[in-house]
Amino acid sequence: MPETIETQQTAPAGRVRIENVERTFSTQEGPRTVLRDLDLDVNSGEIIAIVGPSGCGKSTLLRLVGGLDSPTEGAITIDEDRIRAHDDHTAIAFQEPRLLPWRTIAQNVALGLPRGTRGRQAKERVAELLELVGLTHAADQRPREVSGGMAQRASLARALARSPRVLLLDEPFGALDALTRLKMHDLLLEIHRAQPTTIVLVTHDVEEAIYLADRVLMLRNLHATDAEPERPRAKVVALGSSSGIGALGSARTSESPHETAVKTRPTNGSIARLVSVPGTRPRDRGARAFTDLRTGLLDGLGVHKHITKENA
Ligand SMILES: Nc1ncnc2c1ncn2[C@@H]1O[C@H](COP(=O)(O)OP(=O)(O)O)[C@@H](O)[C@H]1O
Ligand SMILES: [Mg+2]
Repeated sequence: MPETIETQQTAPAGRVRIENVERTFSTQEGPRTVLRDLDLDVNSGEIIAIVGPSGCGKSTLLRLVGGLDSPTEGAITIDEDRIRAHDDHTAIAFQEPRLLPWRTIAQNVALGLPRGTRGRQAKERVAELLELVGLTHAADQRPREVSGGMAQRASLARALARSPRVLLLDEPFGALDALTRLKMHDLLLEIHRAQPTTIVLVTHDVEEAIYLADRVLMLRNLHATDAEPERPRAKVVALGSSSGIGALGSARTSESPHETAVKTRPTNGSIARLVSVPGTRPRDRGARAFTDLRTGLLDGLGVHKHITKENA
């Protein structure tokens, strides 16, 4: 492998520290706090999934980590450096691939290269990225000539082009059909093995979170009463105690060392739950070990699966 490429690849996976973050927007109805009292450390090389009801601030949090917005309170650092606007340490990809239609796939990927990367070095890096996402054959095609899955792979390659320390993904597979989405999961894991970066993945898909992530962070909608009625808490507590997923506001931790590690927060901040996914990747999607975890997460999202511990 040419030396130039090796040096580009060695950007270390970043450690993200989110400290006491609040984001309040001013709106016509007055200030609206979307994120509050948010503390989180994302380990170097970790994949963390963020789930939560629509409008709870998932994209807002991702934008803060990516330097596209600033917290009203608190601080975010990557490897001890404060995030700056359009931070070089991070790259972000969205649900829509956002490719330039008049450029080829290869040219779109090249747009992600660090400034000043030119000539042979640029060409080789783009070729390497296209190979990584399985698009070598489509290098000269335009976005409208390729499938949605291929366009999304190009978008991933463009984000990876700058060798980010932290890759931020905002529902990246949300618009894809089910089969393509499953394939993209494995591609993402392959990429993570080949170019280990820290990944913060926003998703509305609990299965996706469990399959991909080391930990799942569930955010709470601070304005839930506007949108949906409060759900009875007793059921959450019961599920929490059977699955090892802590109930809101409870300080308990899991009793068995094999159970999911739990960190719960006795505050009214944005974090509803922070759950470790047991086992190592690649995971068995159907493993029984995930049944309680899945049920607990869905329950936290307000989805009743009518699965109890007895019939799961
Ligand atoms: N620039 C902004 N000004 C005012 N409100 C905003 C702004 N950006 C986001 N919001 C509000 O913040 C809340 C969270 O938005 P978002 O982070 O996009 O939610 P999610 O990604 O979890 O669905 C929403 O109520 C949204 O309307
Ligand atoms: Mg969003």
